[in-house]
Amino acid sequence: TAARLTVDPRFAIGAVRRRLFGGFVEHLGRHIYDGIHEPGHPAADEQGFRRDVLELVRELGVSTIRYPGGNFVSGFRWEDSVGPREQRPRRLDLAWHSTETNEVGLHEFADWLDKAGSDLMLAVNLGTRGTLEAIDLLEYANVPGGSTLSEQRIANGRAEPFDVRVWCLGNEMDGPWQLGHRSADDYGRIAARTAKGMRQLDPSIELVVCGSSGAQMPTFGEWERVVLQHTYDDVDMISCHAYYQEHDGDAASFLASAVDMDRFIEAVVATADHVGAARGSTKRIDISFDEWNVWYIDRVDAVKPTAIDDWPIAPRLLEDVYSVMDAVVFGNLMISLLAHADRVASASLAQLVNVIAPIMTEPGGPAWRQTTFFPFALTSRLARGAAVRVQIDAGTVDTARHGTVPIVDAVATHDDATGESAVFLVHRGLEHPVELEIDVRGLGDVEVVEAHALHDDDPRASNTLDDPERVRPRTLETRVADGILFVTLPPVAWAAVALR
Ligand code: AHR
Repeated sequence: TAARLTVDPRFAIGAVRRRLFGGFVEHLGRHIYDGIHEPGHPAADEQGFRRDVLELVRELGVSTIRYPGGNFVSGFRWEDSVGPREQRPRRLDLAWHSTETNEVGLHEFADWLDKAGSDLMLAVNLGTRGTLEAIDLLEYANVPGGSTLSEQRIANGRAEPFDVRVWCLGNEMDGPWQLGHRSADDYGRIAARTAKGMRQLDPSIELVVCGSSGAQMPTFGEWERVVLQHTYDDVDMISCHAYYQEHDGDAASFLASAVDMDRFIEAVVATADHVGAARGSTKRIDISFDEWNVWYIDRVDAVKPTAIDDWPIAPRLLEDVYSVMDAVVFGNLMISLLAHADRVASASLAQLVNVIAPIMTEPGGPAWRQTTFFPFALTSRLARGAAVRVQIDAGTVDTARHGTVPIVDAVATHDDATGESAVFLVHRGLEHPVELEIDVRGLGDVEVVEAHALHDDDPRASNTLDDPERVRPRTLETRVADGILFVTLPPVAWAAVALR
């Protein structure tokens, strides 16, 4: 079967902001300890950070990194994580039933980010703490000096402020699992008060208010409306979180997961705009999609400790091994984010190392790329300029969860300044290859610069400690003739084609 697509830079959606390629590091499982930080490892630097992991993080191309949680943040006392290490308390992390040693805290993580070339995005605890603690952290992080907390930061080794630009007002406050879970009304009030206070201290920061933990939440839609009615004038973005997995072997629905992400984004935009319209406001609230990924969430309870005398340090939690099919869905989620670049101002892949992560490590052993590493790294590297809508005329596939959906999805980017373009494609079909004829005449007289496909005869193949290079992207065969780019995609495939 053939599909016809048209790419024309005149159909620009919005600028490709680097923040779309953000990540998320939570104090969870082996993310920090035995992940990015392993002092005894042969690749460890003078601070105990693994150089091999840093190299992979740089190759992945992550911009802003959200920290320190996640569910963890709702029990976190930020003061524990600064000052002399030997005096830092060991705390029980109720979210993941683990011991937090605070060996890596705000300063160490900021140092790690400097090495990784990424920016810090901080979440404050609005679950078990309140406005004052959030303002204190902002003073500690962003005030140059002359106040008690800013001078404490300087005494702790950072003369310059951390200058954190983006702040999350809590985490998943709609979720009954969240420590300090609140109603929309309750949360909206504390979020508004905290936002106002933080802005009194630093009006230049950008604030993200908690939206829903997923479109499947029973309060979804109403939560956004109520929370934004309280906070509309005080925040810049509302968060979305979404995780997808294959349910009961239903691969067709799983492959169409991005359709759900599209609808989720569009519903949140509509709700935010409704609140704005009802207020007669000209201000626009954007989306921070600050947790997204494939995650086999049902498997967590089987491994999470629960006993009163069992609070391990860095247990193996959420260590999902990703298949080629997972990576194809993942690549499609990135297409969805780019296709909404007008309103999704920021996004964070959840998470980065060992915990539902594109990068895995073994203590004392190697670090390697999961299948999901490749669509992220390629999209982050090739997407430049503006996101461009692709007109798609292709077949459809019937799915139990998402209805009848296009079998092909795509988005493009185009950089006027350099003349560089890229097309990102996904084939959601399980059976036959699809031939694509992509009309690229609107891009001018272009040639293919590079073309990659993620596909395998075994869509369940993955990279593991024993076989860390089993899956790699392959060079995709392409041909351009008379302004038409010809590409054949095998079933269950994601691809990126760069043109110039
Ligand atoms: O990313 C894992 C967890 O998923 C985060 O801690 C939480 O915010 C979400 O439920």
